[in-house]
Amino acid sequence: MCGIVGIVSEKAFSSRTLLERLKRLEYRGYDSYGVFDGREVRKRIGGIRVEGRGRSTAGIAHTRWATHGGVSERNAHPHLSCDGRIAIVHNGIIENYEEIKKDLVRKGHSFASETDSEVIAHLLEDLLRRRSIEEALPALIRALAGTFAVLIMIKGRDKIYAIKRDSPLVLGTADGRTILASDIYAFSDWTNRAAFFDNDEIAVVGPDGHRFFDRNGKRIRKPLRTFRWEEERTGKRRAKHYMLKEILEEPSVVRRLLFSLGHDQKPAFHKLLRLIRRSRKVIFASCGTSYHATLLGAYYLHQVGMEVQTLIASEFRHFAKVDRDTLIVAVSQSGETMDVIDALKYAQANGGRIVSIVNVPHSTIQRMSELSLNILAGPEICVASTKAFVNQAALLLKLAQAFGFKVNCDNLPDRIQTLFKARAKIKAIAERIARSKDAYIIGRGLTYPIAREIALKIKETSYIHAEGMMGGELKHGTIALIESGTPVVSLINNNDADIISNTKEVEARGAKIFILTNHPTLGGSEDTVHIKTGNDGKFGILAAVAGQLIAYYAADALGRPIDKPRNLAKSVTVK
Ligand code: AGP
Repeated sequence: MCGIVGIVSEKAFSSRTLLERLKRLEYRGYDSYGVFDGREVRKRIGGIRVEGRGRSTAGIAHTRWATHGGVSERNAHPHLSCDGRIAIVHNGIIENYEEIKKDLVRKGHSFASETDSEVIAHLLEDLLRRRSIEEALPALIRALAGTFAVLIMIKGRDKIYAIKRDSPLVLGTADGRTILASDIYAFSDWTNRAAFFDNDEIAVVGPDGHRFFDRNGKRIRKPLRTFRWEEERTGKRRAKHYMLKEILEEPSVVRRLLFSLGHDQKPAFHKLLRLIRRSRKVIFASCGTSYHATLLGAYYLHQVGMEVQTLIASEFRHFAKVDRDTLIVAVSQSGETMDVIDALKYAQANGGRIVSIVNVPHSTIQRMSELSLNILAGPEICVASTKAFVNQAALLLKLAQAFGFKVNCDNLPDRIQTLFKARAKIKAIAERIARSKDAYIIGRGLTYPIAREIALKIKETSYIHAEGMMGGELKHGTIALIESGTPVVSLINNNDADIISNTKEVEARGAKIFILTNHPTLGGSEDTVHIKTGNDGKFGILAAVAGQLIAYYAADALGRPIDKPRNLAKSVTVK
């Protein structure tokens, strides 16, 4: 949540360059933004407009997802100190900001915003009265409680100072430029070399290069690492939205993952199998869409007699019993989700072993893990996750296969491609669902996690209230909400008699039924999408893809801002 970026360059660059980089991080938050080019601060409400004339050799910028204080220009970053000399951008939450603010107000400071972040600029100003910047930065780290990635500029100096704790921050170098950012996507088209900040580290970046320091101000060595982050083709290209582009990329990203699991990631994959075999207990930890992928993974593994648990990371510490024989498998697209990081810290403190399955390379969760597999979905720009879900699920299916689950994974990319032929029919169904204020998605077993995932996609992108349910649970309450015409999407795997009965039960109460099934003779022609695949678990993934398309077309019919839905952010780095 919130994206920050800073550039220091040997040669002057324009604000446009800085805003272009910030635009690449817009998926992290998009209610307002601002830049500081060493001379002046400019802020705006709304989406980032890449424009501007001024040139400088250093600048910082911020795109906001509001936490403390509403969406307004004065709450947008950068924030200035009282004397206007220090400008800061911040991602995270300063937990003790009220205390710091009270103290500074007593000393005569006045504040311009309602944010927690502004105190950072004022506190640094206060610390600099008695200290050099080299001494003030460690003191600043010590004084702040909470989470922060902060970039600081002082007027008249072509330098950026950076500090970080628990919020992500990376540094990349490319052709005489050093770029600091919340994630590698800000510069992955410039370079694949980056240094990844650890907690309580400081960096000083000037035109002559960068230096890292620890929390005591002692110089530390931090080598640049090479990362692999394959972009399909930048931009939306022919697709109207990133969401559609990313769905259409699914066959190729699944192919890439399957190849990698048999080649470069084969040793890591086998190590994961060994770790799972040796652990007394295996618990998945994840959130949102990634949680739905783990629910599907737990189903697959259960089919081969393995008992694994999956928990929503924000509730992990309340429901998980962790000890030295527990293996925690964190699953996360961004690798930065704070609820997952928090669950992992809790697990580590109780002796658990951590492994992960992530999309963004070198992300915090990957670096916290003793072993990590990459799902290789490439950059996912649309806030609603689609191709990352498919690759998480495909990896978990491969895992179950390695434990004895009978499935042909190799034809999954082709099966997804074949499903795309039904896009016109799916679009027509979506446009009918878009006319309703509510929708229900029901599944059982294999398709229960998918029902939840499709409902989440519909909510996020179209703002239609959608519930993804266990078909068997409907009659225990929710069926009271079914009225004449209420859309119910039923996910029917292989003629499953129980979900067919549940479908009939809602149909008898007036629901408008749509069916996604792999059974060739079920359902009517207009309202049923027949998905070509056998009874080997792939139907779950394919039904999710059909559901992603339903969500996309429903949102498009309603004219929603599909790639950046209201109130959301791609990377949820607050608790
Ligand atoms: C997906 O469409 C969501 N926007 C969201 O639920 C997401 O899956 C969740 O925040 C977890 O993110 P992660 O995979 O990056 O950890």
